[in-house]
Amino acid sequence: MNSPASDTPAEASPEALLASIDAARSQGLAAVSAASTSEELALAESGLFGRKSVLGQIKQDLGSLPPEQRAAVGRVLNDAQQALRSAHAEAAREMAASARREQLQREWLDLTETPPGPERGHLHLVTQTTERLEDVFVGMGFTVSEGPQAETDWYNFEALNLPSAHPARSMWDTLYLDLGERTELGDGEGGEASNVVLRTHTSPVQIRVMEVQPPPIYTICPGRVFRRDTADASHMPVFHQIEGLVVDRGISFADLAGTLEEFTSAYFGKSISSRLRPSYFPFTEPSAEFDINCVICEGSGCQTCQRTGWIELGGCGMVHPNVLANCGIDFEEWTGFAFGFGIDRLALMRHGIDDLRDMYTNDIRFLSQF
Ligand code: FA5
Repeated sequence: MNSPASDTPAEASPEALLASIDAARSQGLAAVSAASTSEELALAESGLFGRKSVLGQIKQDLGSLPPEQRAAVGRVLNDAQQALRSAHAEAAREMAASARREQLQREWLDLTETPPGPERGHLHLVTQTTERLEDVFVGMGFTVSEGPQAETDWYNFEALNLPSAHPARSMWDTLYLDLGERTELGDGEGGEASNVVLRTHTSPVQIRVMEVQPPPIYTICPGRVFRRDTADASHMPVFHQIEGLVVDRGISFADLAGTLEEFTSAYFGKSISSRLRPSYFPFTEPSAEFDINCVICEGSGCQTCQRTGWIELGGCGMVHPNVLANCGIDFEEWTGFAFGFGIDRLALMRHGIDDLRDMYTNDIRFLSQF
């Protein structure tokens, strides 16, 4: 039969409990500092705190001490528990901080860093060329103007001294837009849908500028143009031109020639020679074609220059008095010159590319060379 005394815990000596507390504290601290991962630390935690931990058991044993000794041993026990809690919390904090440091290191991203290699993109050669041309002309004191790609017959032809029955209209194989209804394209005549074209050149921007800006005018107008041309080594149905327009007092053909010479050496360097060849445009009088030596064959003749040794880059001339009058400018007081160059061909010549079509096939091996 069990005696009532057997349900009471055996009496523990204070010395034995103090020794057990000291041992449990040392082991607990060792377990905390041995944990190198948060999982190991969590595992150690169950042996450190709670009723089933060593210190938890000792706490229960405190009850068997005489009351006068209980308080002193209890204080030591509390100190030990406190020390283990602090060590555990400190280790947990340090582990979280180091995990965060590792994550930051792993996921670190420098947004200003440019990745090496061919994946890095750049502007298309035509855009680069346009920007370079703008830089050259802005450096010479020109402004940059723009106009719409869909134009009325008035701006694309009539205002440029090309009335509807003019035979010179056949110089531009025109694409007409069937818009079905009236358009709001401009104030000029010819707003009917059948009279709207994809502009065949950048010359209509001359008219738009002169309509709103009184002379003196020094401007360039780069942009995309469209013609029913069959693609070959030097032609595309969609290509780019840069128009130049100067209107001021006392402007002569010598100013035009000087400006083009200045432009040629700024853009191509001194080694390229150019020539002006008499020509005809309804909106300039006199008119000329502007050619440079073909850089592909260096003048001996190839398919790019159609075996002539020269490549035609654009047309130019003195602005026709009718054009000035169409824009309300007094041609007795003001004179001017204009030019229109093919940007694609300028790029072709500057970079020694022998076929214009290569610029538009989007072959990365070709495009990444520029
Ligand atoms: C014109 O378009 C005139 N507006 C130029 C002009 C402006 C003359 C101002 C006088 C005063 P032309 O049709 O020749 O002219 O074209 C000019 C240039 O555009 C050509 O010399 C050529 O470099 C380029 N070009 C013409 N057709 C094509 C095409 N299909 N593909 C690529 N480039 C072309």
